[in-house]
Amino acid sequence: MAYNLLKGKKGIIFGALNDQSIAWKVAQRAVQEGAEIVLSNAPIALRMGELNKLAEECNAPVIAADVTNNDDINNLLTKTQEHFNGGVDFILHSIGMSVNVRKSIHYTENNYDFTHKGLDISALSLHRILQAALKMDVINEWGSVVALTYIAAQRVFPDYNDMADNKAYLESIARNFGYQYGIKKQVRINTVSQSPTRTTAGSGIKGFDGFVNYAEKMSPLGNASADQCADYCVTLFSDLTRMVTMQNLFHDGGFSFTGVTQAVIEQMEK
Ligand code: NAI
Repeated sequence: MAYNLLKGKKGIIFGALNDQSIAWKVAQRAVQEGAEIVLSNAPIALRMGELNKLAEECNAPVIAADVTNNDDINNLLTKTQEHFNGGVDFILHSIGMSVNVRKSIHYTENNYDFTHKGLDISALSLHRILQAALKMDVINEWGSVVALTYIAAQRVFPDYNDMADNKAYLESIARNFGYQYGIKKQVRINTVSQSPTRTTAGSGIKGFDGFVNYAEKMSPLGNASADQCADYCVTLFSDLTRMVTMQNLFHDGGFSFTGVTQAVIEQMEK
């Protein structure tokens, strides 16, 4: 069901890789709600070709940008301004990657070249995008930026590895840049801390199925799906949440504030 919540709004969606991606669902929901969007992902992700399907469905241009590269980001923002003949009202940052996770390198053995790469892609990229957007005045007043994160930023989930540190950094950037962009242009910046979700990035985490099942049992409402995450992001892009900024917002069926559930106790008694 659509409510026209984003009628007339324009946005950039980073990170749709395939139809499991959270960004894919956000793109679809944003367009259903009346938005016009530009899609962006790393050049290597575009070569896989799947994003073209979404672009067609959403009638959206695809502009490649490796988020660790300033020139790519400047080019994306310039082309986006040309396309819309003006600025954007929302940005979704749905980007994450850890080489240490990919190579199954234990947290205590992390390779720092890999750590730097993962930090650059997963966290600093938010700063990079916001810095360029501010310089080029890309985000309209009362615009909204959402970045996706995970509760491993606050609590230990050992197999989340250095992505936990990346997410803590990402959330801190959202808070600090949220202050600066708020003062200058009334732009709000938040992170959404999503339940574990079966996607390409998610499934890269060791023991991911156990992770998902545990969270499901530990959440009074169960795990939040990617589609439900998209619904939530749409509300944050809409004018209904104009005074929400610098927050880390849990979208996790209650997991983050649950000590234990009956389902977990029963499991332990077996
Ligand atoms: P995904 O694998 O579909 O999305 C990750 C995206 O990051 C991909 O589109 C990938 O191409 C992009 N990316 C990687 N390196 C890049 C670079 N250098 N430049 C530009 N883009 C680059 O997986 P998912 O799960 O949809 O991830 C989206 C976000 O949601 C990530 O920030 C992830 O950490 C976060 N998240 C995921 C959860 C899960 O369980 N799947 C739970 C909580 C948060």
